[in-house]
Amino acid sequence: MTEEAGARAIDALLAEERRYPPQPEFTARANAQADIYDRNFEEFWDTEAKARVSWLAPYDSLYEWDLPYAKWFLGGKLNISYNCVDRHVENGLGDKVAYYWEGEPVDDRRVITYADLQGLVVKAANGFRKLGIERGTHVGVYMGMVPELPITMLALARIGAPFTVVFGGFSPDSLSGRLNDMQCEYLITQDGAWRRGRIFDLKKNADEAMEMAPTVKAAVVLRRGGNEIGWQEGRDHWWHDVVEHESDDPSSCPPEAMDAEDLFFLMYTSGTTARPKGIMHTTAGYLVGTSVTHHYIFDVKPDDVFWCAADIGWITGHSYIVVGPLANATTSVMYEGLPDFPDRDRWWQIVERYKVSILYTAPTTIRTHMKWGPEYAASHDLSSLRLLGSVGEPINPEAWIWYREHVGGGRTPVVDTWWQTETGMILITPLPGLTTLKPGSATKPFPGVEAAVYDDHGNEVPPGGGGYLVIKTPWPAMLRGIYGDPERYQQTYWSRFPGVYFVGDGARKDEDGDFWLMGRVDDVMNVSGHRISTIEVESALVDHPEVAEAAVCGRNDPMTGQAIVAFVTLKGGKEGSPEKMTELRDHVAKVIGPIAKPANIVFTPELPKTRSGKIMRRLLRDVAENRALGDTTTLADASVVEEIKERATVTPTED
Ligand code: WTA
Repeated sequence: MTEEAGARAIDALLAEERRYPPQPEFTARANAQADIYDRNFEEFWDTEAKARVSWLAPYDSLYEWDLPYAKWFLGGKLNISYNCVDRHVENGLGDKVAYYWEGEPVDDRRVITYADLQGLVVKAANGFRKLGIERGTHVGVYMGMVPELPITMLALARIGAPFTVVFGGFSPDSLSGRLNDMQCEYLITQDGAWRRGRIFDLKKNADEAMEMAPTVKAAVVLRRGGNEIGWQEGRDHWWHDVVEHESDDPSSCPPEAMDAEDLFFLMYTSGTTARPKGIMHTTAGYLVGTSVTHHYIFDVKPDDVFWCAADIGWITGHSYIVVGPLANATTSVMYEGLPDFPDRDRWWQIVERYKVSILYTAPTTIRTHMKWGPEYAASHDLSSLRLLGSVGEPINPEAWIWYREHVGGGRTPVVDTWWQTETGMILITPLPGLTTLKPGSATKPFPGVEAAVYDDHGNEVPPGGGGYLVIKTPWPAMLRGIYGDPERYQQTYWSRFPGVYFVGDGARKDEDGDFWLMGRVDDVMNVSGHRISTIEVESALVDHPEVAEAAVCGRNDPMTGQAIVAFVTLKGGKEGSPEKMTELRDHVAKVIGPIAKPANIVFTPELPKTRSGKIMRRLLRDVAENRALGDTTTLADASVVEEIKERATVTPTED
């Protein structure tokens, strides 16, 4: 973020003075009571870990902090699939619904109880084992939002096989990059996935990726789309052949006793280089962190119906569609498709049908609903909703208010939850019933979490000032490293300010100690809540044979938070054209995935560079934002930016 943008963000947020104190009826029943913030860090995590998780062997030490590496619950043994499924059946909750699943095609529904889920997980685990997946085998997962996705994750957890789920919108290149980095031996995928009424051929992408990922020796393919697919005899196996005939008796596949610090999964995320980072999450800390935060922040009661409308391909889905809610024996809704299929009221139909009481989504989706207008929500009975949540990017106060008014009926608290792939669990958030809400502020660190705002020199900024967000103490679900790259782990998170976790977000802490998040401070863009690095997109562009050079930056966008703008120089001094723009955008979609497509490409004979040859991204950001240009004195050739500015007035393409 430029200083100017930061200053304006602060101005805008300072102007926000609306306050929503907790309602007494909510407070009286809230899971979080006032003394929660007084609890001592160690007592808090120790008590909560024992209350929320079933251990096969107790841990001997709560945590060890060998900076920058934390280990939690050492000596403890447990299994995540047992905690998420079996113990609830043993406790008499077998008939309770785990998932109300809605397929994208209308009337395509499944109700899965905890007893059903147990049988399905056991069958899958038995089938996977017969194929050769064992404790420690690395598995890639590339699926849409079908029940078999959480079933796969739980079956792998049962066996003790670490996995990485790759979002279904990623390209074959992105998928193979992840399979190779993790050295996956198996891939669980499906034939096709529904997307706005059409089948998207996932298997074709999976096939291309497997071509480039030699460690993958077998694939399991779920039939979902019914589309024609390629097939490699010997390597590919239908899910129904592998899984259907297996026993669903839990004793046929007892859960492995995993060590607290055994790797659970990797989630790849964008950083400031082109290569995504494999963020490591381990077993006990992740389970404790997600279940405890889910319990207090979403105030979940036994009769609630919880809907986290994210995709399981991202960390939000891992933590708050799969592990947190299932560990708490919650009933969740899971929806396969897009919000406007077949019509723009699909979400509100779902809320009404299942009487959803807690809804958790991203600001970009709220803004999309705002654009469509409140009439879609108004045409359904949403009175079951009692709590709303937001995640993924700073929520502008207008969207916050709209969400509360038109979705929450002007009654519900809205919890703006701040966290990251790396943190594994929510870290800064209101607690409903306790916190006075301020639209646009994620308010306070979760109990047991210590956050601060630092200036450039690592001094704490006094109340009211902006700076860099840092976390000062370890927390159970924190990342344990970047897979295969300890140096990058140290460099990215622990070297900017020694001894504290560097988040990469700007923030301000106000007089009440409430945090206001201000977006990324590094070269990571946030487009519709998805993290994409500028350098990743630049490498995808220069990968095109006609591109000589590319520089990419984000500009503010009222719908998607940020939109990607690319500045491109073609080889041989060639001029760009609308056709070339389409071609390059498609090329980026092919290399990374459609989410990374630039909204606009500005062709320019030259990029603004310093005399030492460094591209001046700051100036490009000014151009992209249509702002007055900052200092241009260090430019090798100052006329370049003026020319780019003129070219940048070309209307951006729509997607
Ligand atoms: C941003 C998603 C402001 C932030 C769970 C962070 C937010 C990045 C919020 C992580 C929020 C997430 N307010 N910004 N409530 N939640 N962010 O890894 O920039 O996909 O660093 O994890 O999203 O994105 P990630």
